[in-house]
Amino acid sequence: MKTIVMLISGRGSNMQAIATALAAERWPARIAAVISHRPHAGGLDWAREQGLHTVVIDHTGFANREAFDAALAAEIDRYDPDLVVLAGFMRILTEGFVRHFEGRLMNIHPSLLPAFAGLHTHQRALDAGCKVAGATVHFVTPTLDHGPVVIQAAVPVLPGDDEARLAARVLACEHVMYPRAVRWFLADELRLEPEGRVRHQHGEPQWLWAAP
Ligand code: GRF
Repeated sequence: MKTIVMLISGRGSNMQAIATALAAERWPARIAAVISHRPHAGGLDWAREQGLHTVVIDHTGFANREAFDAALAAEIDRYDPDLVVLAGFMRILTEGFVRHFEGRLMNIHPSLLPAFAGLHTHQRALDAGCKVAGATVHFVTPTLDHGPVVIQAAVPVLPGDDEARLAARVLACEHVMYPRAVRWFLADELRLEPEGRVRHQHGEPQWLWAAP
């Protein structure tokens, strides 16, 4: 039985997609804790309703980023997780934190990395006149929104798209690919090759294309 800890900041729809797939597909895994730095993160209510163990570590109570990250790491370590899943966790993590969990720390970012690291990815893709947009699941390294790519989803940018419409199209793909990436990791199907490339051991497609 593998152990997952999830970190969320907001509505937690990616957390829900993973927890739902885990239950429906009967993965040999459990979510030991859902942790948020925001006491009112919407996803906490859903997690509690599912009977998941939730923890709030309010970042506003800490003097600096290092102190918060140390407390967060100590809490996560209590569950000795095989994988820490960042599911819409909107905080910059210190190098010490990332190094501590390196190789078992996964994130989803709503762009086709390495394009558009950081915030406002969909608006930036629209402003740049991109014809495709998407999202990336990657292992976390100390550089923000960077690290070995596990799976990517591409969606078309359609005439008349605004930020909300494009975000919704991308999010639907996120909900398919993040559970897939987590399942692969827990089943030990991912190999990290030199140069930081991630290969699926059995050659499963590490991409998703949402046709219009
Ligand atoms: C997602 O678009 C994710 O890619 C990004 O933040 C959003 C979080 O959504 N990191 P949710 O909290 O999972 O619903």
